[in-house]
Amino acid sequence: MNFFAKSGSAAKQRTGCAIVGVYAKGNLSEAAAELDKASKGLISNLCKSGDFSGKASETLLVHNLVKMPCTRLLLVGLGPKGKLDRRTLTAALNAGIAAAAKTGATDAISYLTHGTDALIAPLYAGRLTAEAWHKASYRFLAHKTGRKPAAPKTQRLGIGMESRAAANAALRGAEQGLAITQGMALTQDLANTAANVCTPSYLAREAQKLAREHKSLTAEVMGPAEIRKLKMGAFESVARGTEEPARLIVIKHKGAPASEAPVVLVGKGITFDTGGISLKPPPAMDEMKFDMNGAASVIGTMRAVALLNLPINVVAVVPSCENMPSGRATKPGDIVTSMSGKTIEILNTDAEGRLILCDALTYAKRFKPSEIIDVATLTGACVIALGPFLTGLMGNDDQLAEELLAAGKRTGDEAWHLPIGKDYEETLKSNFADFANMGTREGGALIAGSFLSKFTEGQRWAHLDIAGTAWKSGSQKGSTGRPVPLLIDFLLNKAGI
Ligand code: BES
Ligand code: MN
Ligand code: ZN
Repeated sequence: MNFFAKSGSAAKQRTGCAIVGVYAKGNLSEAAAELDKASKGLISNLCKSGDFSGKASETLLVHNLVKMPCTRLLLVGLGPKGKLDRRTLTAALNAGIAAAAKTGATDAISYLTHGTDALIAPLYAGRLTAEAWHKASYRFLAHKTGRKPAAPKTQRLGIGMESRAAANAALRGAEQGLAITQGMALTQDLANTAANVCTPSYLAREAQKLAREHKSLTAEVMGPAEIRKLKMGAFESVARGTEEPARLIVIKHKGAPASEAPVVLVGKGITFDTGGISLKPPPAMDEMKFDMNGAASVIGTMRAVALLNLPINVVAVVPSCENMPSGRATKPGDIVTSMSGKTIEILNTDAEGRLILCDALTYAKRFKPSEIIDVATLTGACVIALGPFLTGLMGNDDQLAEELLAAGKRTGDEAWHLPIGKDYEETLKSNFADFANMGTREGGALIAGSFLSKFTEGQRWAHLDIAGTAWKSGSQKGSTGRPVPLLIDFLLNKAGI
């Protein structure tokens, strides 16, 4: 997609489709009023006749306009005037861009963020427009045969803003948004790919391919022998039940001198989670192909980091394997020694994410990071706590947590700070090992976070539990690309951009 930005009257800009906001009760936004005047009352008549109510996210496409600068006019409802907030505006933007993508227009201009700087700063108006376009146009067809649905016709998407300065900022935001959505697309493609194709080796090859495509990136892939040599007994124990060899993937982005401490991102890469011997029940088990979404999101983030040429060092560490039951699989009660030297009694083989992450976190320390952020579809309990809306954020550093929360708020890819600590850790008591991999059911997300905290002592660290936010179920089943927008916003900030 080619983005451009404009300031000035909507009545003066030629376009295949003008996308304008209309409030309830016929209250027109500035751009709508300009086009209403140019069309001698077309929009106000549609409101008066009851054909358009201005309800939030309602859309109406008007065709065959004569003597107008736009071939098509797309009205988008903004709800009651004076009640417009960030959330309603973002939803209207998504609805408007999605409706525009269904038209035959080869170019369009969205005026939906015109004069709304108080709700969404122009830079973010640009980013959110780019993200809206991505949501409207992303398709995953890798496993489909036959005629593929036609891609949207729009080639150029403009953002109409109130001032030259706002237009410049929005364009910069859209360009950042383009990199972010390319990162999201990679995340979604990897996560949506079926687990018989997207194996640990496949993920590793994709990481190597990504590194070949970008000069700032290098990828290193380790296999079972190296994982054993590193004494990653916890990671190894999860991979025991499967025929698929485990992979430890390290991707590095060099954007600053080597003397500068990197941000290390760790992503859970379980390419399929059956639960192991603690087998999961059949309903929706297919969705456990998404259990590598943490890995996919850090790989996608590395793509965006490289595209944006961020002047910082970033390292992605991805432990990847399948969690399967078999004659060789780890059994409940088995005790393993993690890379840190701490022993773990595996009471439930379905609590495997923390087992591969704890060794990856120990490994991550060798990069002497400024901070480690792990991303994982870690617990069903997090889905119960926060639903599909918010990512669970835990950690040992309040300032880092605040920065991540703020990045989530700015991008709409939001997280919620949850507690960890001694009370939760104590539920992990084991009679036989240093601790168990499972505590009580109650507070499961926080217990998992507390488990990880034992491997990040003395290190600035945050944990993002994306079990609820990484993918959608039901008819819209698929990866969302979250939390790539949050992570990139955090990293842009870190880079002082
Ligand atoms: N991958 C799952 C977590 C999950 C479950 C994510 C449902 C999204 C939807 C994880 O490996 C898991 O199975 N966790 C267990 C932990 C429990 C055994 C302590 C869980 O949440 O039930
Ligand atoms: Mn599991
Ligand atoms: Zn899992």
